Amino acid sequence: MATDAISGHRAFGLPPPGDAALAHSRELLDRILDEIRESGGEIGFDRYMQMALYAPGLGYYSAGAEKLGERGDFVTAPEVSPLFSACLAHQCVEVLRELGGGNILEFGGGSGTMAADMLNALGDTGSLPGAYAILEVSGDLRERQRRQVASRAAAHLERTHWQDALPGPGFRGVVVANEMLDAMPVCCFRWEQRGVLERRVGIGDGQPVWRTGLADPALRSLVTDLSASLGNPWEPGYESELNPGLGPWLEALYHAVDAGVVLLIDYGYPRAEYYHPQRREGTLLCHYRHRAHDDPFFLPGLQDISANVDFTAVAEAAVAAGFALQGFTTQAQFLLGAGITGFVERAGDDLERIHVAQQIKRLTLPGEMGDRFHVMALSKGVTGRLSGFSLRDFRNRL
Ligand SMILES: C[S@@+](CC[C@H](N)C(=O)[O-])C[C@H]1O[C@@H](n2cnc3c(N)ncnc32)[C@H](O)[C@@H]1O
Repeated sequence: MATDAISGHRAFGLPPPGDAALAHSRELLDRILDEIRESGGEIGFDRYMQMALYAPGLGYYSAGAEKLGERGDFVTAPEVSPLFSACLAHQCVEVLRELGGGNILEFGGGSGTMAADMLNALGDTGSLPGAYAILEVSGDLRERQRRQVASRAAAHLERTHWQDALPGPGFRGVVVANEMLDAMPVCCFRWEQRGVLERRVGIGDGQPVWRTGLADPALRSLVTDLSASLGNPWEPGYESELNPGLGPWLEALYHAVDAGVVLLIDYGYPRAEYYHPQRREGTLLCHYRHRAHDDPFFLPGLQDISANVDFTAVAEAAVAAGFALQGFTTQAQFLLGAGITGFVERAGDDLERIHVAQQIKRLTLPGEMGDRFHVMALSKGVTGRLSGFSLRDFRNRL
């Protein structure tokens, strides 16, 4: 049975949205349903996800909902503690030194917390980049980021710039993206004896619903190759998803970077773990007011939709684009390598020490963010040591 997209919060026992939020979701839902009708009754899930998250003025990331932080729907590592951004800043400094200067480009800046904390950490150590640019597709988030940097890192506002597309060729420095890859639209598939099926989005009882039919040749060959690369491990009925936008994104990035390092931080797995036969329902995950569930059709525009990252796919696409794979490790090992425990030693008193230790635990413990999140470094024209990858290197797991 399809859950009503607008009143489904009752079925899930989730907090009800206000009237304005409901009207907003209804407007986006109508636009999505119109597009499904105009497309002959179905659209790919990647298109649905693109609209639900990024439809101009209406999508979850494009419109005005709070999204990140305690008052929003989910919390990211930079929101947990400024120590995360300070460690990332430390890693950037090593690269900027090797390059003799350069810029930082952040993808998907969220609330602007990471930018403000990184700029402050870089300023404190006298290692500011020439410019700190944020590539943000959401106009609403861009405004929020500007306010955040203006209030918490005012001295660095002048060197902070916003852009809505990649710069032209010639970028030198460090590109950082925390929890951006998981927000890219994915295609959903089902593995059956009769072939590869695509899980698309149609309409049932006036609601978006899953519709399954034979995949087109492009998706079929991607999924067949994926299965073959794993030794054909799936039983019929196995469902998962893949991100068709990774290759084009990394290629465009490679052409924009003249020399530097790309640091990608996200939740996900190496391929064999991602597509493990037991993970038979994929990794789609939705967040609404700090509740996680798996119905992407619930309250479009008011909830986050994400999928884990296949880091093997990222590495393959990056190397095919021309990047060198410089490192792959867990968030815990990255932060430890980048010196996070030094903050305990530098704490002013016992209370601060306890506070810092608690933050480190949240960022590094296995049950928390420590091993569910991974960090990947891609490089072009830079070969120096990256301390975040000096403790454990898990490239052999990809
Ligand atoms: C889950 S939020 C993470 C925000 C922030 N990085 C953090 O860690 O708090 C995802 C972010 O990625 C952005 N985003 C998604 N796709 C993008 C793309 N292709 N280019 C740039 N930003 C993108 C969204 O607008 C949003 O700011």
